[in-house]
Amino acid sequence: MTTGSYTSTDHLVGSSPVFQALLRSVRIVAATEVAVLLLGESGTGKELLAREIHRSSPRADQPFISLNCAALPEQLAESELFGHCKGAFSGADRHYDGRIRAAEKGTVFLDEVGELSLPIQAKLLRFLECRECQAVGETRPRTVDVRVIAATNRDLSEMVQLGLFRKDLYYRLNIVPLESPSLKERSGDVPLLMNHYMKQLAEQHNLPLPAVTKAAMACLNRYNWPGNIRELRNVCERLVILRAGQQVDVTNLPLEIQCGAAAMKQSENLANGSLKDMEVQLITDALHRTRGNRTHAARLLGITRDTLNYRLKKHALAEAH
Ligand SMILES: Nc1ncnc2c1ncn2[C@@H]1O[C@H](COP(=O)(O)OP(=O)(O)OP(=O)(O)O)[C@@H](O)[C@H]1O
Ligand SMILES: [Mg+2]
Repeated sequence: MTTGSYTSTDHLVGSSPVFQALLRSVRIVAATEVAVLLLGESGTGKELLAREIHRSSPRADQPFISLNCAALPEQLAESELFGHCKGAFSGADRHYDGRIRAAEKGTVFLDEVGELSLPIQAKLLRFLECRECQAVGETRPRTVDVRVIAATNRDLSEMVQLGLFRKDLYYRLNIVPLESPSLKERSGDVPLLMNHYMKQLAEQHNLPLPAVTKAAMACLNRYNWPGNIRELRNVCERLVILRAGQQVDVTNLPLEIQCGAAAMKQSENLANGSLKDMEVQLITDALHRTRGNRTHAARLLGITRDTLNYRLKKHALAEAH
């Protein structure tokens, strides 16, 4: 049970200072055996980072086993992690090694570790403390040599407070926490990632590459990407398919990106500019949308035509419109 389909060609793209700093930490922890806890919003690349840690570690030639804890039904979790003996329970018709033993000499990646039930957390703690793994139905535990990397987008310390996550396990896993930044914090990485994925996906679909205009790229840059890199990749795939070999301008972008970027621009104006700037912006937008029709623009703004004329004169906009 893996958490996604990754290939050996998947690699980490990004040159923003915050991302480069993260990569430096990744290289440092990769050389050690320490437990790593990857934190960060959904779609920020936690699984890719876990793979990168493994790939840069002395265990690189050994297995990397990824397990999505959220997808484990409670009654199967123990046997999936630690294995079971033949006949240990009804349905256990043959011996199963479990995911931890399958990672012998390599790395096990426990994704969404916050979703494990409290009894399984206790068993995982025991494994982390003495590296012993006891399969369901086995009389004696066996030692395994496996490195553990865990990830979560939940606030584990809050879960500890609420009694939903064991404090001792939290400390065991949280030796080196690494935070994967959201895409909006990674300034400058959007164009890099767009180019990377557009090229990769155009090749994959055997389609000619679309050309993103400067204005569209500026819009993509301003958008706040709540789904992070996963969302960006999906947008690239859509554009590669729908705009193959053509230009991608602002109007070809998904609506939520056009609107999201416009809203961001407005709130930037609000944060940076004066009330006067805002007013000028609103009036200009309204006139633009009504193709210069002052009566319609005034209605759009919720003011009278006289007030609009007065404002236009006041801000010296009258000549332009
Ligand atoms: N730095 C990066 N460069 C290129 N692609 C990336 C990068 N980080 C993530 N991706 C891609 O983004 C997608 C989401 O990444 P990943 O599954 O690792 O995120 P996640 O943090 O584990 O998300 P979730 O919390 O939802 O499981 C994948 O397709 C991955 O290949
Ligand atoms: Mg993941």
